[in-house]
Amino acid sequence: MKVNIIEVGPRDGLQNESTPFSIAKRKKLILDLVDAGARHIEPGSFVSPKWVPQMKGSGKLYLKVKENLKEKEVRLTCLVPNLKGFEDAMKYGVEDIAIFASCSEGFSRKNINCSIDESFERFNEVVALAKKNKVKIRGYLSTVFGCPYDGKVKEAQVLKVARKMMELGVYEISFGDTIGIANPKQVKKVCKLLLAEFPKKKLAMHFHDTRGMALANIVTSLDQGIRKFDSSVGGLGGCPYAKGATGNVVTEDVVNMLHEMGCQTGLDLSKLQKITRGLEKTTGRSLPSKLAKIKL
Ligand code: HMG
Ligand code: MG
Repeated sequence: MKVNIIEVGPRDGLQNESTPFSIAKRKKLILDLVDAGARHIEPGSFVSPKWVPQMKGSGKLYLKVKENLKEKEVRLTCLVPNLKGFEDAMKYGVEDIAIFASCSEGFSRKNINCSIDESFERFNEVVALAKKNKVKIRGYLSTVFGCPYDGKVKEAQVLKVARKMMELGVYEISFGDTIGIANPKQVKKVCKLLLAEFPKKKLAMHFHDTRGMALANIVTSLDQGIRKFDSSVGGLGGCPYAKGATGNVVTEDVVNMLHEMGCQTGLDLSKLQKITRGLEKTTGRSLPSKLAKIKL
């Protein structure tokens, strides 16, 4: 069984580093990931540098990465919050964007400074232009399983926002456990509801590992039929607007588990291990990766 891994480390990971990575280091990380077999990567975001300085220069970075990818089929999805971000992305020839909304009002305000409804108003204009320019659109929903500001999030609310986002014409939605609070029982319920309504090829899960439940949640999602997962090499990251959110589930730990279960990901474990060990040197700290600590 083939499982798609979407590598979000260069964006979701690095957006949270206290010392921002240089463009050269970000580029190296992305090209190393491509060399390790990653074929869908989030290289950066076109958000306000006042809000997230770590993602400054994402346009330049995009061009530098593209120059080095001439023969390789790699999907590079850049986060765009509004028209300004979209226009900036267009200047650099970005072909695949991700718009992001929240399932809870509290997180929407803290993350993008507007209500959920307002965020969809912004997306309408972005989506219209994206379609005109033949740009592909991925969707993200945050706080699907709980919000750091509003607490519990009802499944009916998740479905309501997911329908709205699907109606915009996104090719898939990534359902985010922004603060790593989901448990397998909850994940099973949400996956069942989503799969009853939307085609499985349009569904991805985005687990953070704050409470150590991300791998269990991935197995549960797999059992329900989900085949796409976001992850971050080394487990870099978190979210600057969700206090306490640690990194995404670790790419190499997910890949190892999937390979042991007989699934194919196209990723090379020893190369991922090497990338994480390099990141540990660069950041000067130990990353949450289990695989980086053992000999293969
Ligand atoms: P705002 O301050 O409300 O924006 O921020 P504004 O429209 O009032 O504009 C204020 C200033 O920002 C103006 O500049 C604009 O030009 C500028 P000034 O006149 O003061 O010099 N501006 C921009 N600059 C660069 N790029 C832009 C842009 N837009 C306005 N796109 C805004 C609103 C959305 C921009 C801001 O809140 C923002 O950038 N938020 C992004 C926060 C973010 O990146 N969060 C992390 C990503 S989401 C995430 O991690 C969750 C996810 O992983 C899934 C999960 O785990 O749940 C995806
Ligand atoms: Mg995230």
